[in-house]
Amino acid sequence: MASVSEDTVREIKFRNSIEDVVAPYVALRKAGSNLVGLCPFHSEKTPSFTVFPKDGSFYCFGCGAGGDVIAFVRRAENLDYPSALAYLAKRAGIPLVQDDRDRESSLRRQRILSMNREAARFFHQSLLDPQKGAPGMAYLRDRRGLPLSLIRHFGLGFAPDDFGLLTDHLSRLGYRDYEMADAFLSGVSKKNGRHYDYFRNRVIFPIISPSGEVLAFGGRVMDDALPKYLNTSDTPVFKKSRTLFALNYAKKHCAEQIILCEGYMDVIALHGAGFQNAVATLGTAITSEHARLMKRYTKSVVISYDSDEAGQRAADKAFRQLGEVGLEARVLRMNGAKDPDEYIRAFGSDRFASLLNTASSEFDFRFGNILGKYDIGATEGRLKALDETVALLSTVDSETRREVYIGIAAEKLSLSPESMRRDVERRIRRGERARARENTEKLIAASQGIGDRVNTDFIKNPPAAAAEEKLLGILLLHPEYIGESEKAGKKPAPEEFFSEFGRKIYTRMLDFGGGYFDISALGETLSVEEVDRITSLKRSREMLADNRIELFWELFDRMREAMRKDSLTTEEIIRRKREGRK
Ligand code: UTP
Ligand code: MN
Repeated sequence: MASVSEDTVREIKFRNSIEDVVAPYVALRKAGSNLVGLCPFHSEKTPSFTVFPKDGSFYCFGCGAGGDVIAFVRRAENLDYPSALAYLAKRAGIPLVQDDRDRESSLRRQRILSMNREAARFFHQSLLDPQKGAPGMAYLRDRRGLPLSLIRHFGLGFAPDDFGLLTDHLSRLGYRDYEMADAFLSGVSKKNGRHYDYFRNRVIFPIISPSGEVLAFGGRVMDDALPKYLNTSDTPVFKKSRTLFALNYAKKHCAEQIILCEGYMDVIALHGAGFQNAVATLGTAITSEHARLMKRYTKSVVISYDSDEAGQRAADKAFRQLGEVGLEARVLRMNGAKDPDEYIRAFGSDRFASLLNTASSEFDFRFGNILGKYDIGATEGRLKALDETVALLSTVDSETRREVYIGIAAEKLSLSPESMRRDVERRIRRGERARARENTEKLIAASQGIGDRVNTDFIKNPPAAAAEEKLLGILLLHPEYIGESEKAGKKPAPEEFFSEFGRKIYTRMLDFGGGYFDISALGETLSVEEVDRITSLKRSREMLADNRIELFWELFDRMREAMRKDSLTTEEIIRRKREGRK
């Protein structure tokens, strides 16, 4: 993104105020001249996420995430620096000129997308072809009972049992072998280096983005062969961990609620039965990216996984991921069918609709699992169940909810609600104490640089590193000190800094001439974690009274002094790291 000038970056930031950009993610309220809310990047109950409109930055005092509006978008939308910039430019209606590298990679993406579209058309037409498509049609329409309208709606297809049909077809359209390999449409033979169709003798499910691009394919065998499904691996246009099948259709129907399934066929059956708000992850467990994606489109999720043990385990994880991003979640329990597809076929859509209405809350789900695990008629079983139930209740944040659940659990386990409440409260306090202890330990470890992945030099000489971080904090607050130090004949040279991290920041500040300085100037070369650290260095100095230039000079001397003393030996570093891990 070399061609996006610093002026343009400034313009982009100016036209995207941090408050406006953050607002859809965090409910902010005023706190003095700043705004606070619950951090979208970690789970918390009291707001430590702070927006500083004055300098257009944010910082979470809980998890340490911080930076400018670009850093926020990088994190919230999972984008790299250039894409975050492009996102904000678009938001503000600022046209961006692309440089050669960007143009090339966006061209490559466009080629893959258009090739995928051709491939989807090819698969779909093959399925509709009375001869070529006969096996696919026999499977989808006859065996799986999908009406033609649904087959068309989802653009389902068929890959004939042939090694070269698609590759030949795409070649004729001008696509090159390496492009097909990039898109995962053709594989390369290890024996003779020849390209061959990746999907063969399978029915095809195209995976389409919310904006209508064909991103990838899933292909199912029509018998019991393995693997049952073959999916496109990650490509420049597709990342499994952040894609939901059928979101392109569901997005118009899911403002209130999304139905989250495991499989393609579940989603298709549900849409066919009128539940157009169903989506599925693609054979992977739900990720935080999936959860954040859903959060953009809906308020609540009904987890509709398979009724087998794997499905129930996955539901456990889904509750956690969805809770993390603040989505309300419930789970379906299906009896008499292994998945939603089977359920609809066995019992019809009305029964599924009432099943949706009776979906269980996270507490019901987990409490049910506890009751299923122990024989509460026996003392030992009852005690174990009580213990786990108390632990579960202590994780419920809302006091009113907790009170209701305590009532239910106490009755079921024949205990008075009062004593259960006392146990739960004790457990909550114990958890708080343990967290406080953990935080202290983390602080101690951090002060010695143990496990520091941002400033990897820290551990080599903690006193030098600590002084350096302080003086960098002061400099970030007062870039003008560079010029003033020069006048006083005390301007440090970049090589004099202790860590590579410090040298990097200082060198960039020098490039700016020591006047105005802005993290986004570093943006492209910094990871989001590095931006966090820089923000935290600045914020933690800001809260201190003394940030005079004399202190800056003094800290500089202190750092140099510490550097002169022996830096740690390698063995010592390894020993400390080991200790930190314990
Ligand atoms: P299931 O095995 O539950 O299949 O896998 P299903 O969706 O019920 O499919 P049918 O009804 O047998 O046709 C659930 C999902 O996991 C992924 C697919 O996305 C599938 O829809 N999966 C499964 C794979 O990616 N590869 C596999 O080999 C199996
Ligand atoms: Mn199934």
